[in-house]
Amino acid sequence: NGYELLRDYAKGFRIGAATNTIHYSNSNYIEAMKSFNYMVAENGCKFVSIQGTKGKFNFNDCDNHLKKAKELGMAFRGHALIWHAMAPQWIEHEDSNTMKQSIINHVTTVLKHYEGKIDAWDVVNEAIDDGSNGNGWKFRNSFLYQKVPDFIDIAFKTAREVSPNTKLFYNDYNTEAIWAKSESVYQFVADMKKRNIPIDGVGLQYHVGINVQPQFNKIDNLISRYCKLGVEVHITELDVSCDDNCNDYDGGEGKQSQVYTNALKACLNNSCCTGFLVWGIGDNDSWRGAENKPLLFDSNYKPKGQYNTILNILKNT
Ligand code: G3I
Repeated sequence: NGYELLRDYAKGFRIGAATNTIHYSNSNYIEAMKSFNYMVAENGCKFVSIQGTKGKFNFNDCDNHLKKAKELGMAFRGHALIWHAMAPQWIEHEDSNTMKQSIINHVTTVLKHYEGKIDAWDVVNEAIDDGSNGNGWKFRNSFLYQKVPDFIDIAFKTAREVSPNTKLFYNDYNTEAIWAKSESVYQFVADMKKRNIPIDGVGLQYHVGINVQPQFNKIDNLISRYCKLGVEVHITELDVSCDDNCNDYDGGEGKQSQVYTNALKACLNNSCCTGFLVWGIGDNDSWRGAENKPLLFDSNYKPKGQYNTILNILKNT
């Protein structure tokens, strides 16, 4: 396809992307996917995709992602078991006890279905409040928290019980050493470890822009503190909006590439950072909007400057 593949220089490091089965009929999309050795479903493995109707598990979309990953020789990351968003309507209206059972049942059934096929899952997604100020943390006041205040502990304990070999992650945004929330999430993860809640890793989503970007020293330091806690780190959903400076995007030397560079170098600099995933393949498919040119491939699935930036870092590591 005329360009070098990231995976060929990854040397065992997991470099991945979120994909979506709605694009699988596009051969250019599939070609671009082949650059990566790791995959996550953008939407297909979420609660509502799998259990839209209570008790009726529909694994089709998630299975189709996994099938493609296998076909292309990619490892697969699970996203996400318990999240207040993309949860089916039916669970929101349950009473506390019933909801608790539904959480346990979903975690159990999904993990059993994918036993031995998906080695890391986001068990809980985005449960810390955005206003958390770095001095302790506040839980997001979601329907989950209101009805089952200990849903996080329950989800992780259940996951460990049913699937002891799966790596269990907590995943959240604004966790990349810019906002005060990132310190709060660190403290929350440290507290889970202290209380022996079985957590193996933390996902830093990394949805950022060129105007407010994590500094290398800060993100490197944060990741190293997670390593000292004894958890793994994945950068799980990286995309970089070019904000109001979109002509600076494709040279591979602009501010966008700088964000990609800092993120990847900080991850590679810390041995517990074992996965690095971008949130989508081509700009046109991104939830941030094609005009923000946030990804590594353009809307025709041609690699951009940022792609070469990432490629060169992997080559030289
Ligand atoms: O499936 C329905 C379809 O039946 C309906 O016709 C259509 C009409 O709008 O909506 C479809 O659902 C959409 C779904 O994606 C699947 O395409 C939702 O409206 C839409 O809100 C949803 O957006 C996704 C969002 O998560 C919510 O799940 C984005 O594609 C996805 O990129 C985004 O990803 C999240 C991560 O999971 C967690 N971290 C933040 C990240 C960005 O928001």
